[in-house]
Amino acid sequence: MSRLVDLMQSSGRPPADSDELSAGTVENAEILPETRLVFHTDPRSPGADRYRLLRMRLRELGSSGKLKTLLITSPLPHDGKSTVCLNLATALAEGGKKSVLLIEADLHQPILNARLRLKPWAGLAECLEGTVDPRSVIRRVHPLNWYLLPAGGSRVNASELLQTAALAGVMSKLTPHFDWIIVDSPPVLPLSDATSLTRYADATLLVARADQTVREAIDETIAIIGRQRVIGIVLNGVTSFDRSYSKRYQSYYSPKAPRSEDENT
Ligand SMILES: Nc1ncnc2c1ncn2[C@@H]1O[C@H](COP(=O)(O)OP(=O)(O)OP(=O)(O)O)[C@@H](O)[C@H]1O
Ligand SMILES: [Mg+2]
Repeated sequence: MSRLVDLMQSSGRPPADSDELSAGTVENAEILPETRLVFHTDPRSPGADRYRLLRMRLRELGSSGKLKTLLITSPLPHDGKSTVCLNLATALAEGGKKSVLLIEADLHQPILNARLRLKPWAGLAECLEGTVDPRSVIRRVHPLNWYLLPAGGSRVNASELLQTAALAGVMSKLTPHFDWIIVDSPPVLPLSDATSLTRYADATLLVARADQTVREAIDETIAIIGRQRVIGIVLNGVTSFDRSYSKRYQSYYSPKAPRSEDENT
């Protein structure tokens, strides 16, 4: 662990007013293949490139000043929400120009710490119960360059907790400090949590799993959330397109022909 001053020298921009945050605390993540963080482990892959495209679109929307807090959800469990959150947070934080916070709002089955091989610490559940201040439990995840508010301990009353007024307080304490806030949510159809969370997000990005999520489930999810809140759908796990894409554009991925990044978009 090191203090914020080290962070400022070695990496990207720290959150605004970072003195108020404990974000100087750094946790070292272990990124394994099963973490599925392709943006970090395989930055020249078609999958990583798809996240660059998503980042570009979000930055365009974000530059209007109307988009900062983005809820990631999906119709059903295991569609890939947390995977998309990890990759998107890493993409948005790349280059260190923007401060990015990932909030794990799945209080039923928190998995982000385990996925990153981080020991658990208090998080959103404890913030909502009022036992900790959200600004005191945010930590920077190295080497990914973004900040994590984990779910904390799992709770049987998770849905009730997310419906309390405390959530508004947590979000208002955190929002001024970051350029982007990504909220990893439970699925929409089995639980009310995501619907509660949409109120605190500027927009919602839906994740659908290729060859798994049926059209009716997407339609029902959009009807529950409200069409005006949904800014797009990420199709996770499109393998056939990846194969043809990488064959056709193989030369672009060779080390001799490095690709330009869209850092300024
Ligand atoms: N594109 C993919 N290809 C193969 N496996 C994937 C892909 N995306 C995610 N997975 C795997 O599917 C499982 C579920 O992914 P993830 O945890 O991201 O989904 P989730 O929607 O967040 O799930 P939950 O609803 O439980 O929160 C994980 O084991 C993950 O590694
Ligand atoms: Mg998840």
